[in-house]
Amino acid sequence: MPSSYLYTDLSAYYDLMCADINYHAQSYGVRRLHQLFGNEGNAHLDLACGTGPHVRYFIDFGYQSSGLDINQPMLEQAKTRCPEAQFTLGDMCDFQVDEPLDLITCFLYSIHYSATIEQLKQCIVSAHRALKPGGVFCFNSVDKTKIDNTLAERHDLTREDSFFTFRSAWHYCGDGEQQSLKLSITKTTDGITQSWDDEHPMVAVSFEDLASLLQPYFDVHILEHDYEKIMPWDKSSGNAIFVCVKTLTPG
Ligand SMILES: C[S@@+](CC[C@H](N)C(=O)[O-])C[C@H]1O[C@@H](n2cnc3c(N)ncnc32)[C@H](O)[C@@H]1O
Repeated sequence: MPSSYLYTDLSAYYDLMCADINYHAQSYGVRRLHQLFGNEGNAHLDLACGTGPHVRYFIDFGYQSSGLDINQPMLEQAKTRCPEAQFTLGDMCDFQVDEPLDLITCFLYSIHYSATIEQLKQCIVSAHRALKPGGVFCFNSVDKTKIDNTLAERHDLTREDSFFTFRSAWHYCGDGEQQSLKLSITKTTDGITQSWDDEHPMVAVSFEDLASLLQPYFDVHILEHDYEKIMPWDKSSGNAIFVCVKTLTPG
């Protein structure tokens, strides 16, 4: 049974779960990609912005940065982190902006929260509509054909008087357009352990399929999943960064 507490009831633990992520390196890497592939504008929107760590860095780089997320508890934390930014409660599969943008980002594989291919297409259309010509849509993705269901990430952390263990893993049954992200949190305080399991339904695509969905709207560059080096995707790794430059008219 899918469940998704992490972004609502458990949102206070989200930043702890992500404590190992180098948000500065990710933001800096995408800024560099925008400088190389995009225009010189600074109007930025982060889709599925969560608690706003990337928005914070983009503002500090000089962008006019804003965020969109579907869960209000995540946005409350984002507002505290970035009081000068505008945050919108909304669905990345159907959003509109008042002023056209130069850069749209979507980090941490969140593009896959467009839970079906149809919704993913709507997300792509919304991003295309929101950008200026020459604007960039940049996100990372996992290829369904390369998911290894036996792999999981784990990290442990002590905060105040509690010990936390966070685990995450992709699961793909090998068929169809649905994969899931399994997350678990265990918290032990004074010898009492609580645990929560989340299972998030997400869209499953191969990079080939994803590129075909994007190509009517964007010039698509698929890069190795390394925010510190810019290298074309080697066609074998299962994670990649997509840099999509808005073409003048949909093809
Ligand atoms: C893995 S978190 C990533 C948050 C942030 N981008 C980061 O890198 O820390 C995924 C985020 O996607 C949001 N989300 C899920 N489905 C969404 C949708 N359809 N539209 C907008 N946000 C969504 C969740 O609320 C959550 O904040």
